[in-house]
Amino acid sequence: MTRVALVSGGTRGIGAAIATALKAAGYVVAANYAGNDERAKAFEAETGIPVFKWDVSSYEACAEGIAQVEASLGPVDVLVNNAGITRDAMFHKMTPGQWSEVINTNLTGLFNMTHPVWSGMRDRGFGRVINISSINGQKGQMGQANYSAAKAGDIGFTKALAQEGAAKNVTVNAICPGYIGTEMVLAVPERVMNERILPQIPVGRLGQPEEIARCVVFLASDDAGFITGATLSANGGQYLA
Ligand code: CAA
Repeated sequence: MTRVALVSGGTRGIGAAIATALKAAGYVVAANYAGNDERAKAFEAETGIPVFKWDVSSYEACAEGIAQVEASLGPVDVLVNNAGITRDAMFHKMTPGQWSEVINTNLTGLFNMTHPVWSGMRDRGFGRVINISSINGQKGQMGQANYSAAKAGDIGFTKALAQEGAAKNVTVNAICPGYIGTEMVLAVPERVMNERILPQIPVGRLGQPEEIARCVVFLASDDAGFITGATLSANGGQYLA
């Protein structure tokens, strides 16, 4: 039986690596994206993974988009909530817009994406929800009051939902990547990266998207059926939760 996996923010960065790894592991995969049509089409052409455009910060858009995915590929068995944005600013300079954009995408997006697939997973007696949180939700990060709050919220969401899904064989776990070599991280000012961040990573390098993707493939598998409500840190030793 082929399982269907949906990856939000699945056409670039960590999400693209996750979608590609799940396909290689035998899943039928759909990749959601919000904005960059050109990159999404290139990803689809390169990988053969169909892409679906909607904004995870809208509940209605998620319900409609997921209905389209399910109509074309079948019910979603594995949901990877990966879509996320940064709007970094010191708190004294942070605008209400920078706060709400990040909360709406990185935290409310998990509600919006998970709610439409949850009852189906419960009814079928199988499901995997894998939430991509962040080291900065665990330890907090200056310049990221919005992002750290959302990512910490993702961990609370994971733990609560895990308890609800357990009896129905629906597991819910979080992965907390550290600094991974993607466009999001490479947007950090070079001086901050070299002087403040890299020296704090004991393995001495940024992580690779594929290193997070392999964690997702494991948590999605039947072998991970006894793991739920967990937070898996993959951060090169930068923060020991
Ligand atoms: N760690 C340690 N110190 C940091 C820091 C960090 N991540 N970010 C900023 N600082 C320090 C700066 O070095 C600076 O200190 P000094 O003047 O003593 O050198 C001080 O904070 C203020 O920084 P700026 O001069 O850059 O101030 P600014 O107002 O121009 O910009 C900022 C502030 C927008 C937060 C900018 O510094 C920045 O983008 N920092 C990176 C923040 C960060 O780590 N974001 C993570 C992005 S990656 C991600 O989010 C993925 C993930 O899940 C890990």
